[in-house]
Amino acid sequence: GMLTVRAPATSANLGSGFDVFGVALERPADVVRLEKADRVTIEMTGAGSQYIPEDPDKNTVGAVAEALDAPARIQIDKGVRPASGLGSSAASAAAAAVGLNELYDRGYSREELVPIAAKGEAVVSGDAHDDNVAPSIMGGFTIATEKGVTQVDADIPLVACLPDIVVSTRDARNVVPETARVDQMVETVGNAASLTTGMHRDDPELVGQGMHDTVVTPARAKLIDGYEQVREAALTAGATGVTISGAGPTVIAACAEEDRRKIASTMLDAFGDCGVDARVYQTRIGGGAEVF
Ligand code: HSE
Repeated sequence: GMLTVRAPATSANLGSGFDVFGVALERPADVVRLEKADRVTIEMTGAGSQYIPEDPDKNTVGAVAEALDAPARIQIDKGVRPASGLGSSAASAAAAAVGLNELYDRGYSREELVPIAAKGEAVVSGDAHDDNVAPSIMGGFTIATEKGVTQVDADIPLVACLPDIVVSTRDARNVVPETARVDQMVETVGNAASLTTGMHRDDPELVGQGMHDTVVTPARAKLIDGYEQVREAALTAGATGVTISGAGPTVIAACAEEDRRKIASTMLDAFGDCGVDARVYQTRIGGGAEVF
């Protein structure tokens, strides 16, 4: 039979958790349809699909099918364009891992599927980070370390504003400083701990406060036209914290539910004032990939 999997977009880093923290977003999401076949075929539709190769050897999803020895006809409807900072390729890899595991009865747990999906991503991007695939597969807030993934269900309203700017992940990684001072380390540990506690308490104030980062984010902000203006505008409109989503260029804000709509329109306007087109998602932390 045919299986449909909806795998959410995600936001990695959250400021203080560079290469470690991630959250699943209630929206947008990729929707992937799969059915058993003799060989892997991939069809892409949706946001930015024209930029993604359908050749299984060059597609994240092809690599996941290979890793699970699970050939299938795979149709991917992209909810978010690649290079958005919203875990676009991770969502497809997560959907494929969860769907093929089910289709072929492989019996892997969600946690076990994380490195499989990440490996798929690495084949294509050359670099494996679990911080997007982990939340897309497991949902909620995830802490991905070399020891594995810790998952916490959390409910925090978020605004994700995606400008019409292309930031290559390579550039975004090249500007990351090689060293940080001890006072910055102390600050980062405090913020990461506050953010984690805020997730346990569903406390947008503490989560927003913990998103502050003076090591990686300022260097990357220079690659995003309008970042400082958008950040200031969101904070003025009531955001509890603002940072870069993943490697960018999406800017993400945490907030109280009642401020979300106003923050969304304010961020859009602020990009507009800088001559940058953007789109905005009013969202929140959501669940992981779902099979239908
Ligand atoms: N954490 C990675 C980065 C992106 O910020 O470069 C997502 O894997």
